[in-house]
Amino acid sequence: MGKQRVLSGVQPTGNYHLGNYLGAIRNWVEGQSQYENFLFVADLHAITVPHDPAKLAENTYTLVALYLACGLDLEYSTIFVQSHIPAHSELTWLFNCITPLNWLERMIQFKEKAVKQGENVNVGLLDYPVLMAADILLYDPDKVPVGEDQKQHLELTRDIAIRLNDQFGTPDKPVLKLPEPLIRKEGARVMSLTDGTRKMSKSDPSELSRINLLDSPEDIQKKIKRCKTDVTKGLWFDDPERPECNNLLTLYMLLSLKTKEAVAAECKDMGWGQFKPLLTETTIEALKPIQQKYQAVMEDKGYVESVMRQGREKAEAIASSTLLKVKTAMGYSMPF
Ligand code: TYM
Repeated sequence: MGKQRVLSGVQPTGNYHLGNYLGAIRNWVEGQSQYENFLFVADLHAITVPHDPAKLAENTYTLVALYLACGLDLEYSTIFVQSHIPAHSELTWLFNCITPLNWLERMIQFKEKAVKQGENVNVGLLDYPVLMAADILLYDPDKVPVGEDQKQHLELTRDIAIRLNDQFGTPDKPVLKLPEPLIRKEGARVMSLTDGTRKMSKSDPSELSRINLLDSPEDIQKKIKRCKTDVTKGLWFDDPERPECNNLLTLYMLLSLKTKEAVAAECKDMGWGQFKPLLTETTIEALKPIQQKYQAVMEDKGYVESVMRQGREKAEAIASSTLLKVKTAMGYSMPF
């Protein structure tokens, strides 16, 4: 039996932060040699909210460079750009026509983003999870490693696959394979530095709320120095009354690669004045190799482009074959 297949992606909207890294990208990198990986830049998703055309290509390019800087290895991983493969859009249309509207209206992210957008809600924002289902199902993956916030979208993906199989497949010959979400317990929900009850997010207007992967040591120091804490003495995990404390200890644990028990023992008697410099130093050290590699990759534009080109070729072959399978099942034929 061959390796299981993994698929996942990030939107190229800039401000890539510790949540994206610890919730998703680092997990892709850690598991990559066990799997056949397809990792892409979700640039069609990035236009579901108002966007700047001048920034889209740049953010796509820098995200590919960041994937490489974080340690994705082309021996195991195919890196590609969503918009380079038309099958994503075409399969979305086919899925649109079997997806009940109310499945989309109840998506939590849609509701949250729609409130933020006010008058400016487009059809794409509502349809976003259907595009995501197409992204996934085109590649027949076994596992989809994401942060907690994408869980509902993965459930919808499975529902769409089940519905399509029911309508156009047979029980012993399903058209699409059902993927499993891969959501790690720790790091699946990294919280904001300014409010431990809200997730760290690219779109938070406050730069102080997140640590970006490309932040300078001075910025990291400033953000941790100013982050929200509390007045209780001693630090411990999992106290619902102390969301900031849990979040910062979890960051320390994940970035230092220490176990939860070791961190709990090390920090139990600490005050914030002692812990914050420790977290600052650990974060700077953890991000340093990524930042150095990023600078090196960014200097070689030809290399990044060749990665995207090779990725497109490999991904397209698989995507086209799944699309043809779905179209055939739905009754399309192209006899010439
Ligand atoms: P995006 O770009 O918002 O986020 C990329 C990945 O980072 C995770 N993440 C977090 N994890 C932990 N804590 C946080 N605070 C945090 N913030 C973000 C996300 O869960 C995600 O794994 N719709 C997706 C992109 C996408 C996709 C796909 C993913 C499009 N098609 C198909 C998987 C499969 C998104 O907007 O991710």
